[in-house]
Amino acid sequence: MRRYHVTTFGCQMNAHDSERIKGMLEELGLGEATDAEAADVLVFNTCTIREKPDTKFAAYLGQAIARKRERPGTVIAVGGCYAEAQRERLFDLYPEVDVAFGPGSIPHLGEWLGAGGFGVARGSFGLDDRAFAGELPMHRERPFQAWVQISMGCNSKCSYCIVPAVRGREISRRPGEVVAEVTRLAADGVREVTLLGQNVNSWGRDLLPDIRTEFGELLRACDAIDGVERIRFTSPHPKDFRAPVIAAMAECDAVCEHAHLPLQSGSTRILKAMRRTYTRERYLRLVDELRAAVPDLALTTDLIVGFPGETEADFRDTLAAVEEVGYDAAFTFVYSPRAGTDAASMEDQIADDVKRDRIERLVEVVQRVAQRCNEARVGRVEEVLVEGPSRTDPALFRGRTRRNTTVNFTGTAEPGELVEVRIEAATSTTLRGAQAVAAAA
Ligand code: 5AD
Ligand code: SF4
Repeated sequence: MRRYHVTTFGCQMNAHDSERIKGMLEELGLGEATDAEAADVLVFNTCTIREKPDTKFAAYLGQAIARKRERPGTVIAVGGCYAEAQRERLFDLYPEVDVAFGPGSIPHLGEWLGAGGFGVARGSFGLDDRAFAGELPMHRERPFQAWVQISMGCNSKCSYCIVPAVRGREISRRPGEVVAEVTRLAADGVREVTLLGQNVNSWGRDLLPDIRTEFGELLRACDAIDGVERIRFTSPHPKDFRAPVIAAMAECDAVCEHAHLPLQSGSTRILKAMRRTYTRERYLRLVDELRAAVPDLALTTDLIVGFPGETEADFRDTLAAVEEVGYDAAFTFVYSPRAGTDAASMEDQIADDVKRDRIERLVEVVQRVAQRCNEARVGRVEEVLVEGPSRTDPALFRGRTRRNTTVNFTGTAEPGELVEVRIEAATSTTLRGAQAVAAAA
């Protein structure tokens, strides 16, 4: 049997796309290889959001090309956002690549690989005939958790971001299709679904005039499906977080008490240059509204330091916002200029040593604030969805709370079970605890 190996970079959208890629390859009769060494078809699902994933991919591809020289039958397929961004240059840069495809072209991958007898097809890209992969076979990594794509592309124009250029304008999946997929997943034993989109809460706008709906309604429809115990979504854009979505979060039992709300910068001046279309004050008001509606809500965020023109005072506004909101966790990034975006050609780019200094100071504040949030959980009993053994200590179980914090705990649980865990200790990123109610004797 021919074997494939998929290496995935980037966000959850890419991780989910890889499940479809794997499903499709399996339908073509390939089996999954345990590691790249043993594979005949090497697939890379790439990311290009910052320079780092680009560099990492180049290193992986170098190894794949070396392997192909030893075993000329090896097929190299490159998909995802880097492939789309480099579509004109990819085959010139890397003549060893056999197939390339953008994130919207996954449904075509099978044809290209199949038609080429695995090796000669040179796929194409294009934002014009993108298609949802929702009807494709899927190789899910976990039986009880699933991602569900609700939209593709993004209509925002954030000046630092390459995503609209590589994933195209926003197209919403029809509500009936989303609900049908969630229903199928629930029947299949899935207990937690994460709805995915570049901007989940602008979902549905492009379905007008045929369908009049919004994201809050979709949350309610998913909440009504039997068997779905937890609903998550990522990512919402603060500018589109409206009252109906907040109300749905508050009223739907399955919707988890967590919002990932990318702030990017705490300075209104920088937010404007980023074209985020909200001010610091408006964001903070949204946080208040969310917290008033959803008690015990966890808030996480994305932050960028070193955006062009960011002064020390702007940066301190970001530090102060982290303290003021009290984020449970934050992803922190050094601004990375991306060719073709407006910010890349702005004057007053920030020097590397200033960026490094700022990211260190930011991480320190983020960790201190997160530690405080996690310590506040000690003594409580939290509902945990068991994911498997702990990554660091196989004698412990690992799972996540509804607020999306990882918990390592002692007990007698099975993966996929919901258990009660008494929280005993906290670090800035994880909780420690003991199962409160042992399985019936
Ligand atoms: N440089 C640094 N970080 C970026 N992000 C997006 N584009 C860039 C960039 N050019 C960050 C944002 C976004 C997250 C997914 O990646 O914070 O929310
Ligand atoms: Fe995801 Fe953006 Fe990276 Fe594409 S470029 S994989 S959308 S993070």
